[in-house]
Amino acid sequence: MFEFVCQQNCAHTQARAGLFHTPHGAVATPRFMPVGTLANVKTLTPEHLKAAGAQMVLANTYHLHLQPGEDIVAAAGGLHRFMGWSGPILTDSGGFQVFSLSEMRQISDQGVVFRSPHDGQIIELSPEGAIAIQEALGADVVMAFDECPPYPASRETVIQATQRTLHWLERCIAAKQRPDQALFAIVQGGVYADLRRECAAAMVPYDLPGYAIGGVSVGEPNRAMHEIVAVTAPLLPAHKPRYLMGVGTHLEMLRAIAAGVDLFDCVIPTRLARHGCAIVQGQRWNLKNARFRRDYEPLDATCPCYTCTTFSRAYLSHLVRAKELLAYTLLSIHNVTELIRFTQAARQAILEERFAAFAAEWEQRLVVDAE
Ligand code: GUN
Ligand code: ZN
Repeated sequence: MFEFVCQQNCAHTQARAGLFHTPHGAVATPRFMPVGTLANVKTLTPEHLKAAGAQMVLANTYHLHLQPGEDIVAAAGGLHRFMGWSGPILTDSGGFQVFSLSEMRQISDQGVVFRSPHDGQIIELSPEGAIAIQEALGADVVMAFDECPPYPASRETVIQATQRTLHWLERCIAAKQRPDQALFAIVQGGVYADLRRECAAAMVPYDLPGYAIGGVSVGEPNRAMHEIVAVTAPLLPAHKPRYLMGVGTHLEMLRAIAAGVDLFDCVIPTRLARHGCAIVQGQRWNLKNARFRRDYEPLDATCPCYTCTTFSRAYLSHLVRAKELLAYTLLSIHNVTELIRFTQAARQAILEERFAAFAAEWEQRLVVDAE
């Protein structure tokens, strides 16, 4: 039910193009997945997402448990029906969000305890609880409950978090009941290459339908992330999808694809849109900038999205300056399209056996821009 078919391997890098089959359709990889935290990708309808090329979208266990509660989603017939998205859905397990978003959290081998930011109520989340919530939500892919150590963290702290993540994985596997959902493990280990290797080696024998790399993009230097991804990705099974959590930017995704990663998610395109920023060919443009006020060109003449084929930079600049809500929808349509299009272009390059040249060209362009 969750077969991953590798269609083409790059001869010069670890990059591959594949098809990940789910009960709600296939995902052509490499691919960026838009984030729909509260059962919606902010400011976008499922029609917008489809037009942007989205195949799998994310939702969050932590947020949906607090609001509206998984019982309400389950009574609607599950997340797909509740949010009107008939394609594949992945839910994150909640632990990561507890740590980044709530106060007064406590962690033990049992799980995490925190205070609801809505009403102050004490809430517990455990591996069993996270699986039960995700089974009620009904996504195609559910994530294991993990502990993502902060950065920087001592080696001792990271060893403890990694051990706990391994024990929690066993409990998630034991708790899981639905055969129509795929459980993905999450490799932790911080910036310590040997801990990443140990964690991956311990998780692979469970033979899960997919593996994620977590604990990156938490404040570590960029080169540390690339090194960790390059060390970890090749240790994960070649015939299973590999998902780099919370990434990212063009350069981060490009390097991760070269290391053998298939799936990505990040709030960047929708968050930047809400700050009046567009991502154009990997660059960030603030539409408030005076240079756009009388610029009647499309945002990106090569982009097929509704925003680029219909409106000018001057119009978008006007909407952003006036704080009109339409600005956020139009910029989100473009930004999500841009990130998906970039991963699709990488996929096409792999299929046509020209990924090394594609990567070299983008690497040069993106690194020059970053300087
Ligand atoms: N999202 C981004 N990073 C992580 C991680 O390490 N764990 C989980 N569960 N979600 C994430
Ligand atoms: Zn566009």
